[in-house]
Amino acid sequence: MREFIIVGRNAPTAPEFALDDLPGAGRLDLLARCVTASLLVSHGIRDDVRTHLVLGDAFTVRFDGDSLQGLNPDERSTAALIRTALERRDEAIGHVPVETSPGVSLVRMGLETTLDSLTGESTVSRLHEDGTPIAEVRPPEKAAFVLSDHTDLCPEDAAVVKGHTGLTVSLGPRPLHADHAIAVAHNWLDTSGFDAY
Ligand SMILES: C[S@@+](CC[C@H](N)C(=O)[O-])C[C@H]1O[C@@H](n2cnc3c(N)ncnc32)[C@H](O)[C@@H]1O
Repeated sequence: MREFIIVGRNAPTAPEFALDDLPGAGRLDLLARCVTASLLVSHGIRDDVRTHLVLGDAFTVRFDGDSLQGLNPDERSTAALIRTALERRDEAIGHVPVETSPGVSLVRMGLETTLDSLTGESTVSRLHEDGTPIAEVRPPEKAAFVLSDHTDLCPEDAAVVKGHTGLTVSLGPRPLHADHAIAVAHNWLDTSGFDAY
């Protein structure tokens, strides 16, 4: 199992956003690309991946690769899945998830509760360019990566992440787009640490 926790601090928490202006909707264009980068391969879905998209520290949309249907590579249809999830936000009571389309669920959880909800078996690490070079780290059996959107984590979110892991790993010295960072992290795991091709 691989997990990605993507923190969209300015992302919408209500369905009233335009699919024609995803950048204007808290950079939902980038967040949608993160979702597809985490779950799609060419002509297929990674069924061992769960992606948690944290929206405005209020709701989390969870994508489960083992049951996911209807995820396509384009940003617009991914954003539509997120909008459909948010249309059911009144049904998300407590921390009980509501399945809003096959493999997509909405839960009323911010970053801290989402991190609390991860299986205790996962090795959680924050992705950041200033971390320990990933080539010096052995890939864990079950990895969970926390990353931010187009900005760095705000101090409050950084503190929450620090409360869950002391491990920060770097994919290289240059700051990448978050969706590209996900592709590199997958490649690291796919190749057992850039070793097996
Ligand atoms: C666009 S970056 C965030 C802002 C970036 N720190 C900057 O200088 O503008 C988005 C996220 O992708 C991940 N990321 C980007 N480059 C990375 C790298 N070289 N190593 C590890 N994670 C990276 C981090 O989680 C980062 O917060």
